Amino acid sequence: MFRFGVDYYPEQWPEERWEADVQLMSEAGFNVVRLAEFAWAKMEPEQGVFDFDWLDRVIDVFHKRGISVVLGTPTASPPPWLAHKNPDILRVREDGLRVAYGSRRTNCPNHPIYRECSRNITTAMAEHFANHQAVIGWQTDNEFGDRCYCDICQKEFQTWLQNRYVTLDELNSIWGTVFWSHIYNEWCQIPLPLSTLGAPPNPSLSLDFRRFVSDAYVSFQQEQIEILRSKCPTHFITHDMMGFGYGGLDYFNIAKPLDFVSWNNYPFGFWHQLEYTPASPALSHAAMRGLKSKNFWVMEQQAGPSGWQTLSSTPRPGVLRLWAYQSIAHGADGIVFFRWRTARFGAEQYWHGLLEHDGRAGRRYHEIKQMGEELKRVGDQIFGAEIKSKVAILQSYDSRFAFQVQGNSAEFSYEKHLTQIYTALWKRNISVDVVSPTVELSKYDLVIAPALHVLTDDLAANLRNYVRAGGTLVVTPRTGVKDIANVVVNQPLPGLLADVCGVIVEEYDAIATGLPQAIIFDVDDLAGQTLPVQAWCDILAPQGADVIAHYVNDYYASKPAATWNQFGQGDAIYLGALGTDAFYESVFGWLLKQKNIQSDIEAPAGVEVSERWQANQCIYFILNFTDSPQSINLPGAYRNLLDTTIVSGTIQVGSNNLLILGSRL
Ligand code: GLA
Repeated sequence: MFRFGVDYYPEQWPEERWEADVQLMSEAGFNVVRLAEFAWAKMEPEQGVFDFDWLDRVIDVFHKRGISVVLGTPTASPPPWLAHKNPDILRVREDGLRVAYGSRRTNCPNHPIYRECSRNITTAMAEHFANHQAVIGWQTDNEFGDRCYCDICQKEFQTWLQNRYVTLDELNSIWGTVFWSHIYNEWCQIPLPLSTLGAPPNPSLSLDFRRFVSDAYVSFQQEQIEILRSKCPTHFITHDMMGFGYGGLDYFNIAKPLDFVSWNNYPFGFWHQLEYTPASPALSHAAMRGLKSKNFWVMEQQAGPSGWQTLSSTPRPGVLRLWAYQSIAHGADGIVFFRWRTARFGAEQYWHGLLEHDGRAGRRYHEIKQMGEELKRVGDQIFGAEIKSKVAILQSYDSRFAFQVQGNSAEFSYEKHLTQIYTALWKRNISVDVVSPTVELSKYDLVIAPALHVLTDDLAANLRNYVRAGGTLVVTPRTGVKDIANVVVNQPLPGLLADVCGVIVEEYDAIATGLPQAIIFDVDDLAGQTLPVQAWCDILAPQGADVIAHYVNDYYASKPAATWNQFGQGDAIYLGALGTDAFYESVFGWLLKQKNIQSDIEAPAGVEVSERWQANQCIYFILNFTDSPQSINLPGAYRNLLDTTIVSGTIQVGSNNLLILGSRL
């Protein structure tokens, strides 16, 4: 069933209030709550002394109302007794300083005592709640992340390296430790990439350290999963991730053992406020869906103005509901708002919930209650409906890690580059899967590999086979530069993909800000268009590919800037420069036309059209993110699923409002 609910912290409110809260939730149409992911100190007030009575009582209140419960293991915020007795469970930062107790995520994920205590609380919870009828599933921890550089991590890292390289000769040779005389004679000599090293560490060490940290969270999570699977075999297990914007962990690996992925969607989170466009949550939805190529939940959907010390602006009427429907449009089968009532105390007093600080159910509550009523009608029709995409963008955490170590250009950001490309497609209402470069690609008409920096033989073979069999691949600068060890390849770029692209990079230029450079296209509709480029220019030397664009300025004026190559049954396009938004909009506008990929329903700028498919029945979500009503010309007649009327011709969608239509009649 479609899950709709809220994150609730009963431990933060008087027990007398619980009934009233649960009644309001029930009236809002909520059928699920997430509880307890920050309640370790309430559930285990002293080491080994467990108290679940309060949680039993509140879960019973939910159960009576038919509201199901997802429990979070509370390990993202260890209680004071644990840190006080064992101060070295506290994390050490990249600058070598140990963090102090008093916030959250302050612990080392590898510390044996922290791990033992995490297993203990997980076991106690799992045993206690295994058979409670209201409990349906688990969230492991909360938003894994943050690197620790403590002595324990250093030892674990050395062991991790030993498992990976087996011999020091192998590690020394692969990492190139002869550089700056770092040839290691013993595993215990291998340092951590601390910022206090002064000049940068060996990039191979730095990339492996990021992999090691990611694996540490995978193994930490695995300990909880094994407990939960054995004690609660009928419950699902998920984890709440941080969307595309977070690149600290390899989310593909974190997602692997989960039943489905969840993520926390704050379009107006304080870190997004300046850059917000509706394409950014859309990209995160695609990336989170792509972790398992499966529908997902939003475990924390923004419920009001956000902020810790300072606040974001207040989401305008309709906006919270619109964002939540956008999540559904991109494959969410569960929406859980963060949080129920705005906290009066603690670090998140200004991160607003659906209810005000004083418990009033105001405008935000009523907006979401309306959505609850709507979902009672359409939720089951939508639940499980798939997203079908003809276009894929490949994202690689290895490449992200490598760019974190060496940014290549101060003007370049992998995340921004991928966002620009995604946004160009989003603006044309083209459904995109954001997937691992390891997935089977044959179902896609178009595959874009933005800056696929770390390229292995296996990945290159996957792309080569895709193109050979008839696919179209788009490659951008800084692709194929590094091998798995973060060492520059010993061949012309784009390295292992040079044959597929029919081109090599003769020279490149990380152009300084403000230096004008542009390219002129020579192909089809783009012919004669001059488009500004920025940050990076690859000067190309075709090896069989046709030139489709050349540079305009500087010593490489008239040199090839983009190429097109037929390879097997398919083709590969090499875009040699990084562009502005307008560049990607033009280029992908042209390519989509070539490939005959288009949205069924056209919409004006600022209106998103997304599709989900229930067998062969399409459900269209038409989402108006603009401040004024917008007209859409429908190519046929459709049932409006929210009010069951039939609509056709030109229809209006209100500002910050939406339509959900069924298949064309
Ligand atoms: C995250 C966390 C929540 C809460 C919100 C708001 O997504 O998972 O616990 O802190 O942010 O800050």
